[in-house]
Amino acid sequence: MKIKLEKIKEEVIQALDQIVGADQLEALEIKYLGRRGELNKIMKQIVDLSKTEKKAIGQLANQIKTDIVAEFEKHKGATDKKLVSEGALDVTLPGRKIESGHLHPITIVQKELADLFTSMGFMILDGPELESDYYNFETLNIPKYHPARDMQDTFYIDHKNKEDEFDMVLRTHTSPMQVRAMQKYGAPLRCVVPGRVFRNEATDACHEHTLYQLEGLMIDKNISIANLIAVVKEMLSGIFKQEINIRVRPGYFPFVEPGIEFDMGCLVCHGKKCPSCKHSGWVEMIGAGMVHPKVLKAGGIDPEIYSGFAFGIGIDRLVMMKYGIDDIRHFEGGDLRFLNQF
Ligand code: PHE
Repeated sequence: MKIKLEKIKEEVIQALDQIVGADQLEALEIKYLGRRGELNKIMKQIVDLSKTEKKAIGQLANQIKTDIVAEFEKHKGATDKKLVSEGALDVTLPGRKIESGHLHPITIVQKELADLFTSMGFMILDGPELESDYYNFETLNIPKYHPARDMQDTFYIDHKNKEDEFDMVLRTHTSPMQVRAMQKYGAPLRCVVPGRVFRNEATDACHEHTLYQLEGLMIDKNISIANLIAVVKEMLSGIFKQEINIRVRPGYFPFVEPGIEFDMGCLVCHGKKCPSCKHSGWVEMIGAGMVHPKVLKAGGIDPEIYSGFAFGIGIDRLVMMKYGIDDIRHFEGGDLRFLNQF
């Protein structure tokens, strides 16, 4: 057995001298060091030896194995050096960059908004994307068959919610969270709700079927529209890091009274008129107003004691203005040439 072991070692040394290429090297390694290799074949026979022989041969076998492994390592080292000297392997080349993912521009701005509002004492809430007709429309003073439903057509799900048999819809805005938040937290209340919303729309450069909004709600004693304007201005200058031109005009939403809309000067064309501002120089950004007494009541809050403002901002539009993007469809398009720029 001793002789056999010595022989294996010699064979390996000789064979290593003659091999060419990594394939042959691997085959040789398997032949001698593999699980069913020459060395293991002998190792298996050791069990049958007498106690004294076992010890001596065992030690020798281990030594031979270590030597053979060392021979292989030596050979590999020499091959690498040869490759380097022949110029086939350049160990000074920089490594390949590992591609890592990053946040979507909408997520980036959504996080910035969350930071901004947390610093103003607002809670950040999350709400369901599949919403009941009750919260999406009814509690917001938009009854069935009311023409205001046409403003926000959506996708109705063939399934009713269990408790009150209302249809389920893909929420058309983040406003259903107004009443949900009031019911859960009562007044006074300060919260924002970022999230994904859906519309049954024909898409173009400024309309998408899937978009993002941030709802804001503040309820307390003596809240007025002046507080709303102050908060909106703070938000816009926080996001754009500069003073922003805004204009306030009346707007109709059944769940606020009075209702207003904020437009901001288009930062893509700076008022020169372009597709992303529908060639007007202004971009509709925010629907807002004082929370309608009916909505406060639906949320269990007494409109005689409390008042509040609510606003909803389209995050997609905000991101378009911030980065000068001229087509909303890029966001959901998944084109890496677009996404890699952030
Ligand atoms: N939910 C409205 C929309 O999506 C925006 C809005 C929010 C208006 C809050 C008034 C108050 O168009």
